[in-house]
Formats: sequence, C-alpha cells, structure tokens
Amino acid sequence: MSKIETVVDWLLSSNKTVVLTGAGMSTESGVPDFRSASGWWTKTDPQKVATVDALETNYPLFHEFYSMRIQLLEKCAPHKGHYILADWEKKGILHHLATQNVDGFHSQAGNKKVDELHGSIYTFRCHSCGKSATKEAFLAMESCAHCNGRLRPNVVLFGEMLPDKAWMSALSNIQRADVVIVIGTSLEVYPVNQLPMMTKGKKVYINKEMVSHATYFDCILEGKAKEVLMELNEQLEKRG
Ligand code: OAD
Repeated sequence: MSKIETVVDWLLSSNKTVVLTGAGMSTESGVPDFRSASGWWTKTDPQKVATVDALETNYPLFHEFYSMRIQLLEKCAPHKGHYILADWEKKGILHHLATQNVDGFHSQAGNKKVDELHGSIYTFRCHSCGKSATKEAFLAMESCAHCNGRLRPNVVLFGEMLPDKAWMSALSNIQRADVVIVIGTSLEVYPVNQLPMMTKGKKVYINKEMVSHATYFDCILEGKAKEVLMELNEQLEKRG
C-alpha cells in the first residue's frame, strides 16, 4: 500500500482530523516562506523587523517590512490546496485547522474552523493603547488617532504571547484528534512546533523537504503542499 493510500485510510476512519499549516502552505500562491532559500529570513534579520524591540526602536524598518508583505498579499490568492482543505471541512473529512500563517488564505478559501496562531495581517491596532486602526492609516504611517502611539498589524511578533483563545482551541483540538496533518512548516518556532507532539493520534507531515527533527511523525509525504493535497484528494474521491 502506498503512503498516500495509508493516509487516506487514516482519514476515512478518523472521527477527528486536524490540519496545522505553516508558510510552506502559501508559497505556491506566490507568498515567500521564512527559512527556505527564497524565504524572508534569508534576506532580512527577523530581530530587526519582527520583534517588539524592532517596533519600538526602529519603526521605519518594521513598517516597511509589514507594508511590503501587506502589498504583496494584495496580489496573491489561495491555491487549489487551500480549496481542497475547505472542501474537506464541508464534507466532514477535516474538523479543525490551525495555522501559523497571517495571510487569511484558509478562511478566504472557505474553512470556517480556523485558529490563527500568529494573528492576522489584515487588521490593525495601536501598539500603545490597543485601539483598532485602519489599514490605510497603518500604510500611511499615521499615528494612533487616540493616543499618538504606533500602529501595527495584529500579528504576533517574536517576544509576544500567542492569542490565548486560538492557542487553547488548537491545543485541545490537536489533543483530541485521531489524525493530525502538519503542512509546510519547518517546525522551528516555539510553541507551535510543540503542537504535533500533543496528539495521541496519527501524525502526518507534508513538506517539500525533510527536516531532521520531524522523525516522530507516523508518515512523511515529501512534496509540495498543493500537489500532495491533490493526490490525497484524488484517492479520497476514488474511495467515494
Ligand atoms: P518556515 O519558512 O520556517 O518553514 C516553511 C517550510 O515549508 C520549510 O521547511 C519549507 O521547506 C517548506 N515549504 C516551502 N514551500 C513548500 C511547499 N510548496 N510545499 C510544502 N512545503 C513547503 O515557515 P514556518 O514554519 O511557517 O513567525 O515559520 C514559522 C514562523 O516563523 C512564522 O509564522 C513566522 C516565522 O518567523 C513570526 O513571524 C512570529
């Protein structure tokens, strides 16, 4: 039996399947990941743009980095793999999804049960008083209308806590899952990289390259997210 057939068997007999995604899920939509050769962190030091310290001490660079990512996302859209995951949710094959991605593509594709563990790049707030702000105000580098503070997207920066509700929801769903499929993440970033180990269910890893610390998975499907999801979907459809 092929690995694809094995995973399809697991999916068909699972009462609860959870997917956890990372930046590799969106590269086929034209969004760079972080740690591949063409990733953000090979060109830019994350300490200089994606930390609380960067926001507080070098706002122009912080602002430039997030403005660039927001503008790039305006030209990108979910791909077939995102739509397959949305279709699986509708059909009851997938029960919950957690993502480290801030691009909103899973919701745009139609998934309803999504935990955004690293926040969203589409909403904004004042870093000082927390009041919400508009994208236009952020892009124009305006100050907060209430307290003159610095505006920022609602993403999690290094050094910040994950949103409590999303974290608790992802954790409890993964703990109760029969199958957890992890897609397109290097599993380098704590605490999300701990989540796959929290399940007693089968653990599947879909990634275009093997990472050394992913040996605890029950099945590894090396390949691009969209292609592997299309193969799985084809087999699922054959099995009716
Ligand atoms: P990484 O860039 O660390 O890892 C992405 C993984 O996806 C790599 O192992 C790639 O080989 C793989 N990959 C790339 N394209 C793929 C494709 N088409 N199909 C399958 N796999 C593919 O991204 P994350 O693990 O998501 O956080 O990074 C986690 C966090 O680190 C991000 O949320 C971000 C970053 O710093 C913050 O900014 C706080």
